[in-house]
Amino acid sequence: MVNHLLAIDDVKKDFKNILSWAIEFKRLWKQGDEVALNFMPLDTMTIGSIYEKPSTRTRVSFEVGIDRLGGNALTLLKNDIQLGKSETVGDTSQVLSRFLGGMTYRCFAHADVEELAKYATVPVLNALSAKHHPCQAAADLMTVMEQFDDRHNLIVAWVGDGNNVLHDLMLACTMLGIEFRYAVPEGYEPDEDVVERAKKYAIKNGSKLTRTVDPKEAVEDAHVVYTDVFISMGEEHLEDKMKAFKGYQVNQEMVEGMDEGWRFMHCLPAHRGDEVTDWVMDHENSIVFDQAENRMWAQMSLMCYFITPDAWGAMGEFMGIV
Ligand code: CP
Ligand code: NVA
Repeated sequence: MVNHLLAIDDVKKDFKNILSWAIEFKRLWKQGDEVALNFMPLDTMTIGSIYEKPSTRTRVSFEVGIDRLGGNALTLLKNDIQLGKSETVGDTSQVLSRFLGGMTYRCFAHADVEELAKYATVPVLNALSAKHHPCQAAADLMTVMEQFDDRHNLIVAWVGDGNNVLHDLMLACTMLGIEFRYAVPEGYEPDEDVVERAKKYAIKNGSKLTRTVDPKEAVEDAHVVYTDVFISMGEEHLEDKMKAFKGYQVNQEMVEGMDEGWRFMHCLPAHRGDEVTDWVMDHENSIVFDQAENRMWAQMSLMCYFITPDAWGAMGEFMGIV
């Protein structure tokens, strides 16, 4: 059976180990450990990535991560392939499965990545859809685990749109027992089915999940504040939507209500001056570039976990994790 990563809760019980694997592998690799440097489970494999939308972090982190794991990265931009013009997602999936060891896909409708996975005979990793961004959430929680020793006493607050990044962050935090608060304006709530899943994880893992429309209430005494653009890719520049986010900018005044060791997180790209000020983005407590780097390490763990699970397990054993 082939397993796919469409939303972050597809990893379920192994989530914490996937993150610990990434943290330890990054540490070993950076200190020049021979076992880590010579770990090439994707040797002889080509991993294909389809992009229907632009990308800086996802594309580069996948290409470099695949290379470091001994594989060959093949990036397929939508305008260069038949997908969506003269070929269905399902047919494209069956053809690519004959050549590739795994696929990543950045698409508009989440149904498209579900379709790709349905017809694929190799693992599919969602590289962002309008509904989910699981690779981002993995990197984000890896970053949180690097920054804070005791995740059970943490409060992570989201201030912004009810979007793809919020969905997977909410699932990821509740899966790890981290208290999660989200401030979103009326009319821009996250999808109800995702909130229901997160509520179940919060109950199971002993954490709290709270919604508010008041950003100040969400961030009060919180350790992390996270925001994202108010207008996502594929949405028009909507004047009304921008108005609804008045008071949602993460700025100096907002972070003053947080725990004194506050951190700022953002998936990037950021629209400086809209959802966040330069003061916050460039503050020493901003960890946005650690998040960006961790996209690669987290995805290396995820690719091994889904594409070469035996190698992931063996490396995990070597590192004392699994
Ligand atoms: N955070 C993120 O997915 O960035 P890109 O759009 O640059 O890939
Ligand atoms: N919510 C944003 C995230 C970009 C990484 C978007 O979908 O455009």
